[in-house]
Amino acid sequence: MRKSNALQPISAAVLTELRDIVSEAYLLTDESALQDHGHDETEDLMFVPQAVLEPANTRQISEIMQVCSRERIPVTVRGGGSGLAGGALPTHGGLVISMKRFDQILKIDERNFQVTVEPGVITETLQNTLKEMGLFYPPDPSSRGWSFIGGNISTNAGGPKAVKYGVVKDHVLNLEVVLPSGEIIWTGANTLKNSTGYNLTQLIVGSEGTLGIVTKIVLKLQPYPTQNLLMLVPFRSAESACKAVAAIFQSGVTPSALEFMERNAIDWAVRYVGETPVPIQEEDAAHLLIEVDGFHMDSLIADCETITTVLERFDCGEIFFADDDATKTALWKLRRNVAHAVKRNSIYKEEDTVVPRAELPHLLQKVKEVGARYGFESVCYGHAGDGNLHVNILRGNLSETAWLEEVPKGIREIFQYVKSVGGTLSGEHGIGLVQRPYLDIVFSEVELRLMREIKRVFDPGGILNPGKGVG
Ligand code: LAC
Ligand code: ZN
Repeated sequence: MRKSNALQPISAAVLTELRDIVSEAYLLTDESALQDHGHDETEDLMFVPQAVLEPANTRQISEIMQVCSRERIPVTVRGGGSGLAGGALPTHGGLVISMKRFDQILKIDERNFQVTVEPGVITETLQNTLKEMGLFYPPDPSSRGWSFIGGNISTNAGGPKAVKYGVVKDHVLNLEVVLPSGEIIWTGANTLKNSTGYNLTQLIVGSEGTLGIVTKIVLKLQPYPTQNLLMLVPFRSAESACKAVAAIFQSGVTPSALEFMERNAIDWAVRYVGETPVPIQEEDAAHLLIEVDGFHMDSLIADCETITTVLERFDCGEIFFADDDATKTALWKLRRNVAHAVKRNSIYKEEDTVVPRAELPHLLQKVKEVGARYGFESVCYGHAGDGNLHVNILRGNLSETAWLEEVPKGIREIFQYVKSVGGTLSGEHGIGLVQRPYLDIVFSEVELRLMREIKRVFDPGGILNPGKGVG
């Protein structure tokens, strides 16, 4: 008898069929493995799958998807598990496909400045390998030490360097993708230019594992910038720090990173990391971490002079220049650990607001004003140069009702404001599960319908990461 269209659990017979594709060692059904694959970095959410498979190659994934399509089994693909929007949570149970065995850098093409890589390679491992050859793949999310390059593609990740070099989408040339049907496609060509047909590559980037499973990635590279300068700038007011951001760009300099941290963000990071190269002063309300990079130190020094002249107009404190690699690493360690530090302090909701850069001071003001009305504290930090403010809303002592019912109303107000100034819900973390309730703020019915129809074309059975993203 034909099953209904509803998603189905994995039967014992189907589990055997799936096991035979990958072999016994790579089917996990024990409780601790299921728990491990039931959460990512999002809040305290947990959804346990029925089984986990660790396939080794594209052919196996194709065979798995043929079975899952036939049986209508929900499939969630998982990378490093660093997601902050719940994109890899198996909310419908079913199968998790772990990409951890796709861990090979397949080909570094120095002549063409390209790399072909499997999705389970850790982003920083790829970057370090390339750097040894003088090659640069810029996108550097804070999670790069443990997130997979495939996961970075699924969320269209960013990171500090995005302000000068662009986000993941700007570096992807071509993708091998297994469709829910099991069919295998390449989305584009290994070329810098391509005006041949619809841009399936860019459709897959940022689609949060809802359209297909990426199994090979061709990325564009560039020469590794050999020089950089880094400064940490304190401000008495967080608003002045935000106002300085747009002015820096207007001076004609494009920093390779321009990060904002309000007081709690840096304080908690210092406590979490356990050390800081520079004391944080009592009167500091916020900091900008500013980096310039390139190939000629003279021009970087000139850039820093221009930047400091701008900063003086915004009542900054004493600027700290990191003059050796160890100090630079220590400053970046603080910045990259803010999310971990916040997590250690409280359950929190991570919002990934993004607005046109010059609106940043108003966004910060709005967040604080809404927080005061709804009774929540927030820690704000992020990629100021991109207008991308991470708003961490702390649960603190809020009651369950306040946390689950009132705070989302405040978040809705923040997003409505973001939309009104030309911004959107997420700059780099994705919609995943937790931002879905807010999609109506940024998309019309027509826009949502178009996206849902695209989802249906790729995944008519709705088995791939159901209930996530815009799909
Ligand atoms: C960061 C992550 C949370 O910027 O996106 O640290
Ligand atoms: Zn970020």
